[in-house]
Amino acid sequence: MKDDQAVFQAAEIIKRGGFVAFPTETVYGLGADVFSPLGVARIFEVKKRPSFDPLIVHISKHPDVERIAIEVPLNAQRLMNRFWPGPLSVVLLKREEVPDIVTAGLPTVALRMPKHPMALRLIELAGNPIAAPSANPFGYLSPTTAEAVQEQLGDQIDFILDGGPCAVGVESTVVSFVERRPRLLRLGGAVLEEIESIAGPLEVTPIEEKSPSAPGMLPRHYAPRTPMILNGSTKDLDAYRSQKIGLLAFREPKESQRFYHIEVLSKTGDLREAAASLFAALRRLDTLNLDLIVAEPIPEIGLGRAIMDRLRRASHTGITL
Ligand code: TXA
Ligand code: MG
Repeated sequence: MKDDQAVFQAAEIIKRGGFVAFPTETVYGLGADVFSPLGVARIFEVKKRPSFDPLIVHISKHPDVERIAIEVPLNAQRLMNRFWPGPLSVVLLKREEVPDIVTAGLPTVALRMPKHPMALRLIELAGNPIAAPSANPFGYLSPTTAEAVQEQLGDQIDFILDGGPCAVGVESTVVSFVERRPRLLRLGGAVLEEIESIAGPLEVTPIEEKSPSAPGMLPRHYAPRTPMILNGSTKDLDAYRSQKIGLLAFREPKESQRFYHIEVLSKTGDLREAAASLFAALRRLDTLNLDLIVAEPIPEIGLGRAIMDRLRRASHTGITL
């Protein structure tokens, strides 16, 4: 099927109150018409997502903000102008018309304009903004290819739009504007340094504090099924001696003998490339029946912050070695 036709067909499904998987520049989403509570409910069901976890509303043009949100503070507007279309979600006060199921009953709503041309065209053709979480079972790794969506949710989704591998590879950065000062709710594809250079310093909630207002902040999330540790010491590795260990390396690893399999995120140490490779690499490691995945730490600057955030959550298993 030609891409045009496929997008058209996907839009028809959404207009009829159904849902489809579609590509964005960050990760693949599972989308329904924001004004169709039944379509949105099916997404929660398919993902086994708890109803307290709100979805992000995707729009294709700036004026659509007004269909969803009621107040746009100046700093939010500045960030939208700078990053949209792109990997930034802003949380604003919602309009009454936005169904409660979309926002998990919160008076606020997360909004973003994705950059992938297929996503923009889909929203345009569907005629309404599209509410969409990432297209993975709740808590598991986000999909960055159509094949990954097919593997984990294929039997439950009628239509998967294939837009190739996602260019950014980690989810959008989520910034809330409903308190006095802007608050960072999730690190992601839009880098913090640049956001703060435009909006000033953001308030941050520490990772340990489970916050129901931002379930993307749960300590364990974005996780493979295989136990994983971050920055394993020699002592850690000795405890797993004679077992199958996989390594998630940032660049070429110094030591390779003790590992059954190694995934390198970026040979040249490029953080963009590393982010784009992250979930696919973890997914490959997770299919090898390893006893343990060891992830190397990444420099915590720019996109490296979002990568380390995902690695911390993925390794938050409570296992002690
Ligand atoms: O890049 C992305 O953001 C991808 C693509 C598909 O756009 N979507 C995504 O959605 O990652 P999801 O559902 O996996 O994560 C949405 C997260 C929620 O878990 C929550 O942390 C935050 O966005 N969020 C959504 N609405 C919110 C609200 N009203 N208040 C606070 N946080 C909210
Ligand atoms: Mg998600």
